[in-house]
Amino acid sequence: MRKFDTKVLKIDPSTISFDNQTNELIITDEHTKQVLQEAAELLQSSQVVGFPTETVYGLGASSLSSDAVRRIYEAKNRPADNPLISHISSVDMITDLFKTKIPEVYKPLIAKFWPGPLSIVLPVSEGCPVSPVVTAGQNTFAVRFPENKVARALIQVSNLPLAAPSANASTRPSPTLASHVYEDLQGKIPMIIDGGQCDVGLESTVVDGTVDPPMLLRPGGISLEEIRKLGGSWTNIVLGKKTAGQYEKVRTPGMKYKHYSPTAKVMLFENFNNAIDAVNFYTNTVGDNLNGKKYAVLRSKYWTKTPEDASLIIDLGKTGDDIQRNLFAALRDSDAQNVDIIFVEGVSEEDEGLAIMNRLSKAASQIFDKETI
Ligand code: TXA
Ligand code: MG
Repeated sequence: MRKFDTKVLKIDPSTISFDNQTNELIITDEHTKQVLQEAAELLQSSQVVGFPTETVYGLGASSLSSDAVRRIYEAKNRPADNPLISHISSVDMITDLFKTKIPEVYKPLIAKFWPGPLSIVLPVSEGCPVSPVVTAGQNTFAVRFPENKVARALIQVSNLPLAAPSANASTRPSPTLASHVYEDLQGKIPMIIDGGQCDVGLESTVVDGTVDPPMLLRPGGISLEEIRKLGGSWTNIVLGKKTAGQYEKVRTPGMKYKHYSPTAKVMLFENFNNAIDAVNFYTNTVGDNLNGKKYAVLRSKYWTKTPEDASLIIDLGKTGDDIQRNLFAALRDSDAQNVDIIFVEGVSEEDEGLAIMNRLSKAASQIFDKETI
């Protein structure tokens, strides 16, 4: 693999805006303009660039170039059968560029949630120029119109749809700061645009409305409850995981892999109302008295009391929004403190909780549920 001297270039998102009517890009700061121009030139020459979105940092490359997209898989060390989401900066790009008619079912979803943390799965139409490396050879492709201004500006300036997975090394927690991207991909990519902390903090919701009933392929920044509220067939949306067995293929290959894992072992606790109980329970059931080990406690709603010998205590926040924003950074910060084990307070799987618990259960080595013991 080529070795790069990875540049991290900071820009100020508040200097970027879009005309409400025409979607025209306005950048008031010369440095921001130059950085976006430099990134666009890399993208146009089939290179990859790390950039912020409202969900997590993405590793972008032109969706139209197989060479470019292969570089994403290579830099991340990502399995090639896991397809990528293409990021667009206007709804019209679906029809004009991808030559794809938007199925009626998606129109209320698009009207309500775009730009934003929602990805939709579309059929690949004849003449659609999306690279087969993006779709992993499937006859569908996923698209998202992100809200983050840096992401939208980068798509506009490069004049390319950007295939972009999360910009972490495969299996690591997703990046919510430019420094997380640097930690995982330094030397492997030419540039990272630093646009500050990601607002949502975990990935977009992925839905497939082309099947009946519609399927939630990955819970994320838009909750299941919010989607159901739209009415129509969205009222009946089902969880992909629970229904995957009905289909020949696992429909979101992302479900198959080890994901979001720090080096420390993650122990996830459901229905334990304090950390002392949780740690005692772990010690007794696993037979590990934690002697000579460092451990972190990641707490959210109920774990007020924490054991005295915890090396690190991180408050994720009390609301779903806060917990999802802080989660991935907390897993990485625990690694930075060299802890051996991370004890995490689970949350109930409603609203933001569904996506939070999805990520945590994939990160976890073991899950302890007090209700089922
Ligand atoms: O928030 C996000 O979506 C971030 C930022 C960078 O936008 N991107 C992201 O990409 O999370 P990635 O590659 O980590 O996850 C893409 C997800 C995977 O679960 C993948 O299997 C699913 O989308 N996916 C992509 N194309 C698909 C398709 N044609 N059919 C079904 N699932 C698809
Ligand atoms: Mg990812």
